[in-house]
Amino acid sequence: NLIMKSAQTIGVLVPNVGNPFFSELIKGIQAIARENQFIPIIFSSNHDAELEKYYIEKLVERSVSGLIIASSASTSEVIDEILKPNNIQYLLIDENTVETGDTVETDDYYGGQLAAQHLIDLGHQKIAMMISDDLTNNLRRRLEGFKDSCLKNKTEIFQIEAPMTKKGGYEAVADLVNLSGVTAIFTINDEMAVGVYRGLWERNLKIPEDFSLIGYDGIEWGEYISPKLTTIKQPIVEMGKKSAEVLLNRINNPKVKKQTVNLPVELVVRESTQRIR
Ligand code: RIB
Repeated sequence: NLIMKSAQTIGVLVPNVGNPFFSELIKGIQAIARENQFIPIIFSSNHDAELEKYYIEKLVERSVSGLIIASSASTSEVIDEILKPNNIQYLLIDENTVETGDTVETDDYYGGQLAAQHLIDLGHQKIAMMISDDLTNNLRRRLEGFKDSCLKNKTEIFQIEAPMTKKGGYEAVADLVNLSGVTAIFTINDEMAVGVYRGLWERNLKIPEDFSLIGYDGIEWGEYISPKLTTIKQPIVEMGKKSAEVLLNRINNPKVKKQTVNLPVELVVRESTQRIR
């Protein structure tokens, strides 16, 4: 008999499935789901709140057992109007910190500090930060940590805003090269850094000789681009695994108290940063 009483499915909403950060996260979710005979259904909502609401409604209609929401488009309103009345369990992670349910978090503020401190330790005094033009809470904290460390060390910072994609990073190089005296770049995620590589390469500018570059995330690609990318590593697959575990626990025990898991971030020094000469 192939028909089960409970759907044994979990919906997963991410902002951008094209970013390896989210595919690695999904890998972790899937591993735990599989061990527990659950099936993940994945949606990428591209920061479109309407689309996301539509997906959530359809999932609820199909009696999904629970949801992992990594995209920020789902506001507390959606949660209150759709999920709670239908008794759908959910877990919030990464870009989504509405703060009403279970969460899996990393310390973005500390990660930002680690990135800044690494560049400062290498002697950089003028740093460009390439940040998303649509900051979610986790990114805001990341940026605060970065800025606070620079401020404390009297390091000058310049802010460039762009979409948090390869293309965004690539195009932002046009602004970067207009800044004078900058010797280092912090991109708020690794995907953006990949675009910066190309933008600099097309202008005959070298990493790390002309610009040290540090990313954020620790996606696998970082080890395969040249020079290998220095970054702040989030335990992405582990984040996926934990979020599935916590959600499944919630599905099985709806009454347990709010669960919050904190996972560590770390500096991974590779080849894209160097001491200033
Ligand atoms: O690359 C995706 C980024 O968006 C990650 O840094 C993750 O934390 C999310 O906010």
